[in-house]
Amino acid sequence: MFVGAKCIALCDEFGWYRENFPSRPMIVDGRFLFLDNRPQTVDHGQSSIVNGQEFGGYMLDKLNEIEKAALESLSAIADQSALDAWRVANVGRSSPLMQVFAGFGKLSKEERPVVGAEANRVKAALESALEEKSQAVKNAALAKSLEEEKLDVTLPGREVHVGRLHPSNQQLRRVLAILAEMGFQVYTSREVETDEMNFQMLNFAPHHPAREMQDSFYVEAEGREDNPILMRTHTSPGQIRAMREAAATNPQNPPPIRIALPGMCYRYEQITARSEIQFNQVEGLAVGEGITFADLKGTLTDFARRMFGQDARVRFRASYFPFTEPSAEVDVECFVCGGKGCQVCKNSGWLEILGCGMVHPNVLQNGGYDPKRYTGFAFGMGPERQLMLRNKINDIRYFWGNDVRFLEQF
Ligand code: DAH
Repeated sequence: MFVGAKCIALCDEFGWYRENFPSRPMIVDGRFLFLDNRPQTVDHGQSSIVNGQEFGGYMLDKLNEIEKAALESLSAIADQSALDAWRVANVGRSSPLMQVFAGFGKLSKEERPVVGAEANRVKAALESALEEKSQAVKNAALAKSLEEEKLDVTLPGREVHVGRLHPSNQQLRRVLAILAEMGFQVYTSREVETDEMNFQMLNFAPHHPAREMQDSFYVEAEGREDNPILMRTHTSPGQIRAMREAAATNPQNPPPIRIALPGMCYRYEQITARSEIQFNQVEGLAVGEGITFADLKGTLTDFARRMFGQDARVRFRASYFPFTEPSAEVDVECFVCGGKGCQVCKNSGWLEILGCGMVHPNVLQNGGYDPKRYTGFAFGMGPERQLMLRNKINDIRYFWGNDVRFLEQF
């Protein structure tokens, strides 16, 4: 760099100076600058610097260096964070380029536009290179994620576990759907009953031995004498409640009834492969004028065909229930062996599916229906038992065992 004294000496030799430098030297910060307007080998647009050692020239060189270094480091960048760092380092507020702008005050009036134009050009060049690189980095990131997160549609999908109804409820719904088609409306009754409803109103006398068929869970007995509270042992007490409810709407002329009464029943049993302490039942009840045993037979034969297939043969066996008279049990021809005899039907060729009968006059009376005018039939079946027969399930404990390996099969 020229020091002031030497430059002053040059200035003194004006001819030499004018010949070689078309414009006058300027003193900036005590230093001389020589600008040359002649076309030069390195063309920065408006003007070039001949003497790179002068301040303005130094600044132009510096800009040149800044541009070169910045573009070089930019070309090596491949990701967004490096790009952000580059932005701060090269066009940020304290970047070398911005320091050049900050140093403008040190330039002379003549130098300023030249260095300024060059600085602006470099700034624009860096910014457009940055923009271009930024776009390239984004495109590369997109291409990379498309490549890495490629969806392979040939892979089998992950199985979605969908919940479903418990097999008992599935069977319960099958039964109710068939009965609904035959005109039976669903009526639900309570699971906690009184002895009166569960037994007495159904014609079980307090010490009748038939009670022993249905060992009970008593909930509350103290102070209730012969009307303790118990878990219902069958759905039949719902018959009384349904009849009373219907009769109450018109006591002199009770309306006909055709209901299906589903729900859980409880018995005090030793739990074995054949008996559980809880199970579902579906009770059927039809009450009206002129209902006969033929209606009962037709209804249940039709039900069995709808449930077990059009060819299903049924038979009615005389039986006993306190709340029906006459009473019967219905068997369906074994659909496992076709009646030939197998393990499922215990070689009888028949499977028992329900109990039924004509509603006992005392029961009609207890329900508010005059037995001289009204008759009716009733039946009771167990969905779990039907499912066991249908699917050859040999242990009733599977139903409440909560083992998904069993439940998943339905
Ligand atoms: N309640 C009887 C039981 O649980 C089943 C039954 C039999 C219901 C005959 C009825 C019927 O309505 O008429 O064993």
